[in-house]
Amino acid sequence: MDIRHDFELRAFNTLALPGRAAHFATVTNLDEARAALAFARERGLAVTVLGAGSNVVLAGDLPGLVIRVAIGGRELVAVRGDHLELRVGAGEDWPATVEYCLAQGWYGLENLALIPGTVGAAPVQNIGAYGVELAQRFVALEALEIATGALRRFDREQCAFGYRDSFFKGPGRDRWLITSVTLALSRSPNLVLDYPALRAALAARAASALTPAAVAAAVCALRRARLPDPALLPNAGSFFENPVVPADQAQALAAQFPGLVTFPAPGERVKLAAAWLIEQCGWKGVARDGVAVHDRQALVLIHRGGGAGALLGLAGAIRASVRARFGVELIPEPRILGGRWP
Ligand code: EPU
Repeated sequence: MDIRHDFELRAFNTLALPGRAAHFATVTNLDEARAALAFARERGLAVTVLGAGSNVVLAGDLPGLVIRVAIGGRELVAVRGDHLELRVGAGEDWPATVEYCLAQGWYGLENLALIPGTVGAAPVQNIGAYGVELAQRFVALEALEIATGALRRFDREQCAFGYRDSFFKGPGRDRWLITSVTLALSRSPNLVLDYPALRAALAARAASALTPAAVAAAVCALRRARLPDPALLPNAGSFFENPVVPADQAQALAAQFPGLVTFPAPGERVKLAAAWLIEQCGWKGVARDGVAVHDRQALVLIHRGGGAGALLGLAGAIRASVRARFGVELIPEPRILGGRWP
């Protein structure tokens, strides 16, 4: 395993923010991951685990060891009738894994097509899109304890999944390095077409043309139309979570703001479209200080060279105006590294 020192991370985060890791290692298997953790333990270094860097804001230099997880592999570990379980190395690319499964005729991931990032990062924030969350397709994961190097299996319950949330963002934060994820797939299609934008995109299709491949293609088209390609316009996807509020608060807001966009949420709560709140405050397409609000999706911030300070400044101004106008607190979605939210 090759440890690099004073290593530039700009190419390892999709916002293309500059910043240096004091030490940096790419690990491609369990032994290398254990060796990297031992290197950090022996020197008392803090460990930061990185996948594709597609959901982080690098706000400064990182003093410890950054471990980039590039553990590959896909293996069927159970087949029971139509039901399949596929164990995938944490470093595999998520969108490539979705495509691979579709090509095999193993269904269930169609709505999650084209979400940037690695498989190992997917459970951390329970990635979701177009009516499906990872938790619904999740069997278990394996992870190394950062403090000890011990391997442990977590089932779905132990992961404590919620909307863009899991154990690994709460009590397990910074304590585990995920090495593999086992997914539940099916040989028979079971399409999820509840999400309004997806249903609308497929409305003209005859029932016989509603296949998993058609759903995945529609999801990809929707994403390409709204979400910028990080290779062209550096971004980290949605910059804020959709706020989940009590039903009576949503009702009061809807009475005051008739266009309010809402989605049902578990437990008598309502999810508000943060993009709508932000757009109403006039932010959509605003560019300043080398950062911008995407002109096709107000929830996406773009880095155009202004740096983390300008990006966090813009995020803070957006939060303040949504709070002032709607009384709703926006929660940042990406993980901030080497700094703090303002
Ligand atoms: N809208 C606006 N203005 C905009 C964009 C959207 O008013 O600029 C309104 C529209 O009414 C639209 C609604 O907001 O119908 C919802 O927009 P969209 O379908 O684009 O989804 P979103 O709620 O903004 C969430 C996820 C995305 C995911 C999409 C599709 C979060 C924080 N974001 O966005 O996930 O792809 O739904 O399911 O939950 C991510 O997490 O990084 C991400 C991109």
